[in-house]
Amino acid sequence: MSAPSRLRPAGHGDATTLAALHGACFAEAWSVADFAALLALPGASALIAEGGGEAVGFVLVRAVGGECEILSMGVRPADRRRGLGARLLDRALAEAARAGAGVVFLEVAIDNIAALALYRRAGFREVGRRSRYYRPTGTGRPAADALVLRLDL
Ligand SMILES: CC(C)(COP(=O)(O)OP(=O)(O)OC[C@H]1O[C@@H](n2cnc3c(N)ncnc32)[C@H](O)[C@@H]1OP(=O)(O)O)[C@@H](O)C(=O)NCCC(=O)NCCS
Repeated sequence: MSAPSRLRPAGHGDATTLAALHGACFAEAWSVADFAALLALPGASALIAEGGGEAVGFVLVRAVGGECEILSMGVRPADRRRGLGARLLDRALAEAARAGAGVVFLEVAIDNIAALALYRRAGFREVGRRSRYYRPTGTGRPAADALVLRLDL
């Protein structure tokens, strides 16, 4: 477990750091090139949480035309349940509101208990469902549905 963390904005040079964090948090990792392309999209921005000199968590959002989408977020397994996910989410929501977003959307797997609890605690509500949205994990379990969540800022 790392020392207490600070949050900082990610720059275009952080694609490698973000890809490493994503790989630590998800079975299907996004590549450095994926993150470089995402960071270059209009309205895209990311925050990185650092502790003990290491990157331990991130959130990636895109805000366009008054709407914000949380594209991905994660905290390294060893650093979870210490409030970092909530801090990253709160900061991302505050920055989206400051940038003029009135509503935030995201998709989350229906069986992602931790993320669903985090988002519901922040006030997100379910507004839709996408059938078999996520690819099968190779464990023999079928592809998970995604819930579409919404928060009015
Ligand atoms: C979802 C995730 C980002 C949460 O990060 P975290 O730093 O552990 O979250 P926090 O410590 O800030 O938890 C905030 C609240 O979320 C809920 N929560 C977090 N993890 C939980 C878990 N495993 N089970 C149930 N509730 C959980 C709780 O309400 C918690 O508040 P509490 O600790 O006071 O009970 C982290 O579990 C993660 O990286 N998961 C893998 C990647 C992922 O699923 N990302 C989201 C994709 S949509």
